[in-house]
This record gives sequence, C-alpha cells and structure tokens, in this order.
Amino acid sequence: MNLSRLVKLLQKHSKDTTVPGKKSTMGKSRADFSRLPQHVAIIMDGNGRWAKKHKLAISLGHRQGTENLREIIRHTDDLGIKSLSLYAFSTENWSRPQEEVDALMQLILDFFASEIDELDAKNVKILIMGDKSRLPEKQRLTLIEAETRTGGNTGLHLNIAINYGGRDELTRAARELADACVQGQIRPDQITEKMLSEHLYTRNQPDVDLLIRTSGEMRLSNFLLYQCAYAEFLFPKTLWPDFSVKLYDEALETFGGRQRRFGGR
Ligand code: FPP
Repeated sequence: MNLSRLVKLLQKHSKDTTVPGKKSTMGKSRADFSRLPQHVAIIMDGNGRWAKKHKLAISLGHRQGTENLREIIRHTDDLGIKSLSLYAFSTENWSRPQEEVDALMQLILDFFASEIDELDAKNVKILIMGDKSRLPEKQRLTLIEAETRTGGNTGLHLNIAINYGGRDELTRAARELADACVQGQIRPDQITEKMLSEHLYTRNQPDVDLLIRTSGEMRLSNFLLYQCAYAEFLFPKTLWPDFSVKLYDEALETFGGRQRRFGGR
C-alpha cells in the first residue's frame, strides 16, 4: 500500500474511538485504529461471472480471485485488523461440476505453497474453519501443516473457511456441550452464550464487525451465523476478482461511518 494513503487512512480513523485502549502497531504515529473493524469477514463472490465476462474458464475466475485475495490479506495485516475470515469453499460447493471443484482444490494447494512463508514471517496465525476430514489427503495435510506452523503466531488471525457451513459449526458446538453435560462436567442451565462461542472455530476472537459480500448478492449463505449477530453488512456490486484494495478501503471507511448500537440507543 502507498504510504501516504495509509497515513491518510490512519489519520481519518484516529478521529473517532469506539474501542478504548486499542493500540497502534505502526510505531511512532500511535494512530488509533479503533474505527476500523476488529474482525472482517468476506464472502468472495463473483469469480464465475468475472470469468464469463472475460470469456474465460471458471477456474481462471477463481485463480484471479485468489490473486486478489493475496493483496486483501496483505492490506488487512498492514492495517492491524485482528481477524480476517474468508469463505473459500462451503459444504454446498461440492455440488459444483467436478472440474470446478478440482480447480478450487488445486488453488488451495497453490495458495499455501506460495503464501505460507510470507504469512508465517508476518506472524499471521492461520485457522481452517470447516471439516477437513472430507478433503483430499494432500489438501488436508497442507492445511494441517499451515495451522501447525503458524499456530504460535500472534498477529493477524487468518480464518479460511473450507468445507465450512455455519449450521454445521453450531451443530458441532451443541454436540460438544451436550457431551460435557452427559459427562457431568456442566449442567444444561449453566450453558452461556460465551460457552457456546468458545466451541466455535473462532473461539477467542472478536465477533465479526464487518461482513463484505462482493458481486451484489445479499445473502449470508450459511457463513459465520453466530459471529455475525451484530455485524455491519456491505454488499458492493464489484465482482471479487475486481475488488481492489481501494474498494476495500472504501468499505472500511463506510464501516467507520456507521453507527453501531448493538440493540441500545
Ligand atoms: C464464489 O464465486 C467463490 C467461490 C465459491 C470460491 C472462492 C475462492 C477463492 C477466491 C479462492 C480460494 C481460496 C483460497 C484460500 C485458496 P462464484 O464462483 O460463486 O461466482 P459466481 O456467483 O459469479 O458464479
């Protein structure tokens, strides 16, 4: 990112504070990041339409979408946002043509092969949300390795949803809590919202503040159902491969201008 742009963005965000005590990681400027979301979730929609528009195979739309993703991750990290959750492959995506599923599976391998060194060097902690057991062996091992390698990192939480479904995540949490009851560790009336959230993939991370879905579609599509309870939603019309850092900044600025009351006045 262009430095003067970053400074401008930080100055703009430093005017308004909603989360006291959050410190800048940008050295001397001590800019206040508090009007930035702590947790951004992105549904990267529109790869297929982008490919069609450019008369290309769908797989190339996903490839271009992955290129774009690298920039968005870098920028999120540069800004000091705590968590970034990305919807890469849903439990429903298996029903797509085999060729497309294969292309997405290959992209997962390519993405980690090319990015893992930089992400690890930048102290990014990778978490895969979703059931890895249904994934092909190579992908499963690659994802486990990325999680293990970066597990001790303390920077950006990069949560990538692969074979993920929000209802499935909640069902798993319910099963784990039911099991704890059966084992006599807790009573059902002792279960709190916090306990439930501690059984989700995103345990110990803030709730989603900002959800962006590109391509103009306005649906949550089973993504982070619990964590998005009070999220601000933005639905830019841009197709994901064209969703630039500049548009991302605009989305962040729009978020900064939203009034959030969390049910209060
Ligand atoms: C939705 O667009 C996008 C997906 C189903 C896949 C998103 C995945 C990536 C951008 C890359 C994979 C990520 C990693 C981490 C390797 P769509 O195909 O439904 O678009 P359409 O609605 O225009 O057809």
